[in-house]
Amino acid sequence: MTDFIPVNEPLLDGNERKYLLQCIETGWISSEGPFVKEFEEKFAARMGRKHGIAVSNGTAAIDAAIEALNIGAGDEVIMPTFTIISCISQIVRNGGVPVLVDSDPLTWNMDVTQIEAKITTRTKAIMIVHIFGLPVDVEPVLDIAKRHNLKVIEDAAEMHGQTYKGKPCGSFGDISTFSFYPNKHITTGEGGMILTDDDALAETCRSLRNLCFQAQKRFVHERLGWNMRMTNMQAALGLAQLERLDEFVERKRRMGALYTELLRDAPGLQLPLPNTNYAENIYWVFGVVVDESSGLDAESAMKKLAEKGVGTRPFFYPMHLQPVFRKAGLFQGEEHQVAARISQQGFYVPSGMALTDSQVRDVAEAVKQILNGANA
Ligand SMILES: Cc1ncc(COP(=O)(O)O)c(C=O)c1O
Repeated sequence: MTDFIPVNEPLLDGNERKYLLQCIETGWISSEGPFVKEFEEKFAARMGRKHGIAVSNGTAAIDAAIEALNIGAGDEVIMPTFTIISCISQIVRNGGVPVLVDSDPLTWNMDVTQIEAKITTRTKAIMIVHIFGLPVDVEPVLDIAKRHNLKVIEDAAEMHGQTYKGKPCGSFGDISTFSFYPNKHITTGEGGMILTDDDALAETCRSLRNLCFQAQKRFVHERLGWNMRMTNMQAALGLAQLERLDEFVERKRRMGALYTELLRDAPGLQLPLPNTNYAENIYWVFGVVVDESSGLDAESAMKKLAEKGVGTRPFFYPMHLQPVFRKAGLFQGEEHQVAARISQQGFYVPSGMALTDSQVRDVAEAVKQILNGANA
C-alpha cells in the first residue's frame, strides 16, 4: 500500500458544481437564497416531516431543539452516555440535568431497557441518538415517552436514509435533528437540519436560528437566539447530495458488506451488526471493537494502522467520563461499563463515500495484520 487512506472523503460529482455556480452567478450566497427553502422542503419531505429548518451544523440543531423545548433548570433528560458532546452541551448550559444510560453491547446504541427506571418527576424528555448506522430500538422509547408524557428529541445526525421498521429515521422526535458534516451520508460542508411536525416548535426554531429577530421590531428581542443560518451555497450542495441519497446508502451498504466479508474471521474483532429485526445497517462508519485478548486497545491499534497508511478515528468518549463534567461535579461515581469498554477498545476504519473496493481490501488486510501481530 502506498497512498494514505483517509478515514473519510466525500463524493461531490453530481450536481454540486452546477448548483454552486448558480449561487455565484445569481449573487445569492447568504441564507436568503432560494436553495435554502428548497433544501428544507425536500429534506423534510424525504423524512416524512412537515417542517425543515436548515441550520449551520448538527450541534446547533440540537442546541436549538433543547432551547425550543424549554429544557431548563432542573429538567432531566434521559440520554445515552455513549455519544458526542453536541447532544449534552445545551442541556447543561441551560441548567438541565442529563441522566445517562449505558449502551447495548451489540448495536452500541442506548440500552432502552434502562430508560424507564431513570424516570422521575423532573424528567422532561428522552433523547434518542442513533449510533454509527443502526437505529435505536425506537418503539419502546416512544411507548415510554407517551405513557410518561415526555418529549422525544431524536438526534439522527448519522442516519440519513435509514429506516426503523420501514419508517424514516428523523421522523420519530417531537424534534429530530441531522448533521451534514462531510463524513455524513449527505453533506453541505458544515450544516444541519431540524425537523418537526409541530407548527409552533418550527416557528420557535426558525426564530432561534435567526437571533430571535422580530418581524415588526427587528432589533427588539424577547428571547436570546443564535445566528445558526445555513447559506445558499451550503443548501446548493445539500440539494445535489440529497438527489443521490439512495445511491449513497446503497454504496455504504456494499462497503459494509465487503468489510464484513473480509473481516468476519479476524480473531478478537467485533464488527457492526449487519442488521437487527428493525433495520439494516447503513454503516455511517464501519466501527470495530478489538478484544482485550488481542493485546491491543483502540489507541494502539489506531497507531499501528496509521503506520500502515490507514486513517482511523476513535469511538466516542462517554459523557459520564468527560473531564468537563467531572470537574463540575456531574456523574460522580457513575459507571456505564459497556460504553466505557467500547470507547477504550473501539475505533472506526475508512468508510467515506469515495472509498474504493480496493481500498477496503487494503484496510481489511492491514487490520488483519495488526491483529495477527504481523507488524510487531
Ligand atoms: C450523533 C451526532 N450528533 C451530533 C453531531 C454533531 O454534528 P455537527 O458536527 O454537524 O455539529 C454529530 C457529528 O458527527 C453526531 O455524530
